[in-house]
Amino acid sequence: MEFFNSQLSRVIAHRGASADAPENTLAAITLAADHGAKSVEIDAMISRDGIAYLHHDDGLERCTNGEGYLCSYSAEQLDSLDASTLHPQFQPEPLPRLDAAIALLTANKMGLNLEIKPTPGLERETAEAVVNSLKNVWPEELPLVLSSFSKDALRAALEFWPEAPRALITCTVPSDWQRQLQELQCTNLHMAAPLLDKDSASSIKAAEYGLYCYTVNDVEMAKSLLTMGVDGVFTDKPKMLLNAGI
Ligand code: G3P
Ligand code: MG
Repeated sequence: MEFFNSQLSRVIAHRGASADAPENTLAAITLAADHGAKSVEIDAMISRDGIAYLHHDDGLERCTNGEGYLCSYSAEQLDSLDASTLHPQFQPEPLPRLDAAIALLTANKMGLNLEIKPTPGLERETAEAVVNSLKNVWPEELPLVLSSFSKDALRAALEFWPEAPRALITCTVPSDWQRQLQELQCTNLHMAAPLLDKDSASSIKAAEYGLYCYTVNDVEMAKSLLTMGVDGVFTDKPKMLLNAGI
């Protein structure tokens, strides 16, 4: 049923080049492109009025000059925030709408892993907003994967846009991983790097699923995961891994 290519690059810039630029911003995506990354992972959640923004936490405090829940503010209010808190030398850097990130990614011909990161209770609405932003504009030649820890969000993504490849995100490999991936009609499993073992990696690849690990900021760990058959790694430091020949 999938229409898009779910094969992301080996090195995927996690929240953009987030070791060197404010995570989940246009600056972090631009820097990832400058560093040679072919794909990025970004997190998306929605405003009170249903507009998708790039942001990881439910609360605004860690990454922006706002406070409280992102989902309690209108898009107009969120558009005035500065998101450079983690790398203040980038100030001013807006909290980006997903639409702006999509335009930047397509201009740079980058693949996208869009993590649907719903504030609890907004799983369906968040998936719908993400799909509405991507559906008629994402170019079919660029890799695309919608992922989530939330099964409700993945079910909603399947309903709203069955052609978009999906990934279940877990920490460890669930004992019934294949049943879960089949039920959600996922192409990929995305999981925490330190919790992957060789046998599980072999089984997942033998079943022809994509297997990607987060968050890998160490060259030797990246090499060892790729040797185990992992397709790619999410890293805050794409330049470091790419310079090491990964
Ligand atoms: O999508 C992989 C990874 O980003 C999942 O964890 O918390 O960094 O969004 P987190
Ligand atoms: Mg993420």
